[in-house]
Amino acid sequence: MAVSRPVLKIVHDVVSLRRCMQGLRSSNQMIAFVPTMGALHAGHMALVERAKALADKVVVSIFVNPTQFGPDEDLAAYPHQGSRDRALLAAADVDLLYMPDALAMYPEHFQTEVRVSDVSQGLCGAHRAGHFDGVATVVTKLLLQVLPDMALFGEKDFQQLTVIKRLVADLDIPVGIIGVPTVREDDGLALSSRNAYLTEDERVVAPSLHRELIAVAIDIANGSDIKERCARAVDDLLGAGFTAVDYVEAREAITLSPLAGHGPEARVLASALIGAARLIDNVPVP
Ligand code: PAJ
Repeated sequence: MAVSRPVLKIVHDVVSLRRCMQGLRSSNQMIAFVPTMGALHAGHMALVERAKALADKVVVSIFVNPTQFGPDEDLAAYPHQGSRDRALLAAADVDLLYMPDALAMYPEHFQTEVRVSDVSQGLCGAHRAGHFDGVATVVTKLLLQVLPDMALFGEKDFQQLTVIKRLVADLDIPVGIIGVPTVREDDGLALSSRNAYLTEDERVVAPSLHRELIAVAIDIANGSDIKERCARAVDDLLGAGFTAVDYVEAREAITLSPLAGHGPEARVLASALIGAARLIDNVPVP
């Protein structure tokens, strides 16, 4: 007996997207949206699974957004695995895949930028000039193009999630933003498309980022001096084999403002470089 494989509907431009969305929206269906840059892994698929559990229809986008990459960053090298991505999304029974090209997203004469001021500064924003402006602009466009009921983002990119929550609130975009916990390898390394850049030796070192963050979070919960403990974590990571550490910081979890002292809900966040990969991670303070 022939087994029928799920067919994935794919659109490449806003006009076709809106036509499909009209069909999906009929009869009051709840629509969830998962924006991605492709090279899908189990972290992305956890967002898709959560979306499927929460909504009637799931829309995924794949768009490697050039405006969120700095001139010295990995836009040209960013992994592409189109047919594998499509197979994963078809197997997950996604209802629609939106894959615009750069000219469809940023046509000639495009000149509008969305900038979320405070939460885009510091942490990764201090080391990736313009990155969060690129993210804020593309996510605003994607949300307005798809107009879902909800959109899902990973806590792995905690500052990005905070920027998006802020812009949706500030611009009255009628979409619920849902954060999904980080999916990790068994040894704690957060899944990331950029883990593909790690050599075998670097891959052995990489999980120490998560281990160190957990140790910092526990020490802070137990009353350690926050600044001193984060500074020691930088030394520990360099000692473990990281090439450079952009930051290890504890921040207030909702606003990402600097933590004045012990008390409010807090998050420890870090970015560290190893070989060609910049790894980021974050954990809650228990
Ligand atoms: P990308 O890096 O492809 O990630 C897409 C979504 O998957 C983001 O919400 C990200 O936080 C989430 N994600 C990645 N790794 C994860 C993991 N290990 N566990 C849980 N979620 C994970 O983030 C982007 O793309 C782009 O900036 C985008 C929002 C699409 C705008 O261009």
